[in-house]
Amino acid sequence: MRVLVTGGAGFIGSHVVEALTAHGHEPVVYDVRAAPEADVRNPSTVRDALSGVDAVCHQAAMVGLGVGFRDAAEYVSRNDLGTAVLLTAMADTGVRRLVLAGSMVVYGEGRYACARHGVVRPGPRAVADL
Ligand SMILES: NC(=O)c1ccc[n+]([C@@H]2O[C@H](COP(=O)([O-])OP(=O)(O)OC[C@H]3O[C@@H](n4cnc5c(N)ncnc54)[C@H](O)[C@@H]3O)[C@@H](O)[C@H]2O)c1
Repeated sequence: MRVLVTGGAGFIGSHVVEALTAHGHEPVVYDVRAAPEADVRNPSTVRDALSGVDAVCHQAAMVGLGVGFRDAAEYVSRNDLGTAVLLTAMADTGVRRLVLAGSMVVYGEGRYACARHGVVRPGPRAVADL
């Protein structure tokens, strides 16, 4: 399977690239760190990169919320606009498989109050559970 890995030069993306290669797939890195024109906000280069691709693993992002409020516009641009441009290009080119990295910034840290067990902090899931 040919997989476009946005943010493929980053921390998670580079491990995804390694894992895909190890399992016989063909990763295609799309990352501004690797090539300045490979920006997820650029509709034409994203469309070109999707050529022949079976799936997208979307890891391109600006991370580290809270560095400073002046970062807000760039943060929204890279994360929200970038994802919107990518999804539009996928819809246009018929690429229908997407893996998107979530973040506890969005879904919370995983500390829950359970009537039976009290405060619960689930540990990392086993590979078999994923
Ligand atoms: N690292 C973690 O522990 C962790 C945990 C949960 C979720 N996540 C999420 O996983 C995703 C990746 O995180 P990471 O730790 O690998 O970050 P990272 O900063 O190491 O990698 C992000 C990569 O995206 C690239 N990038 C940024 N803007 C881009 C753009 N406009 N176009 C193309 N490439 C762009 C950067 O050059 C970088 O290589 C983020 O959405 C992050 O919130 C990370």
